[in-house]
Amino acid sequence: MTVDYEVTASAPGKMIVLGEHSVVYGKPAVAIAIDKRTVTKVSKCDDFYVNGYRPLAGAHPHIRSIMLDNNISSLSVYGDTTLPTSSGLGSSAALSSSLSLAVRTLYGKDTDKETIARESFEAEWFAQGRASPLDTSTCTKGGGVALNSPEGLGRHLWTIDKAGKTWDVKEIDVPDMTFVIGYTGIHAPTGPIVEKVRKYKEHNKFAADIIDEMGLIALIGMNAMRRNDKEDLGDAMTKNHKLLSILGVSCNELNKLVNATLPYSYGSKLTGSGGGGSMIALTDEPEKVCEAITLRGGTPIIVHTDTEGVRLEENTAE
Ligand code: MEV
Repeated sequence: MTVDYEVTASAPGKMIVLGEHSVVYGKPAVAIAIDKRTVTKVSKCDDFYVNGYRPLAGAHPHIRSIMLDNNISSLSVYGDTTLPTSSGLGSSAALSSSLSLAVRTLYGKDTDKETIARESFEAEWFAQGRASPLDTSTCTKGGGVALNSPEGLGRHLWTIDKAGKTWDVKEIDVPDMTFVIGYTGIHAPTGPIVEKVRKYKEHNKFAADIIDEMGLIALIGMNAMRRNDKEDLGDAMTKNHKLLSILGVSCNELNKLVNATLPYSYGSKLTGSGGGGSMIALTDEPEKVCEAITLRGGTPIIVHTDTEGVRLEENTAE
């Protein structure tokens, strides 16, 4: 099926530097947009197509959520990405954010970043069953984004409330630091891992204590980031990884990459929901870290961090 798509938008992926999982429970966290983007094209039509095919019932929950939000039942969507999917690098948040901008542009609606961040967060919540606005706010805003950071750390963007939790979203300056991502090649969808943590926390006081501790470590790491203190930030990252492992969201492949990169890094941890996906290392020796990741079967990606958020690429609908 050949379609002349009317609107094209794109959004970057993200890496979580500190605070995944605990952020779902309102604890502080920080993420940075990365220079790999998802491109989404849309066009009006009289049916529902994704990449030229009619999707099965229940497939593509992020897309369905954004269509529902915009009161439309038919749409032709095309998506393409340079992000590995289910990799902890924000492919679904980048899809939601770019689709929200594309659809709202197609229908002449508000396209300010706060509206896009809220709509794409609702899509994540709908698809995952539970979520924080960290991924979607980062992919929408670009650069560095902190949630529930201490007073004076970052500039307020928007506040999001859901299910009794409140997240104060701020933009932060990203210091001149080098991160390397290591992708395990293992697909790990976020929803089931978030649900596993929820069950663990519900039945076990120990899990709740770990989540509190992760919140404290994230605060220490954020303050280190503000001071441009790589030693202390790296230390917080490695501690965060240990707590995530105790929470049961790491795996052998991630631990292998983390351990292999530690000798050349200030700190190293899984990033995103875990269970596979990716890890990150903060380093002054990116080549050695890349080599260590490759030797253990991972795929290294050197990150460029001054990445723009969601943006319109083309609009022929006007
Ligand atoms: C996934 O990238 C990050 C999690 O904290 C879930 C979320 O914040 O929605 C695991």
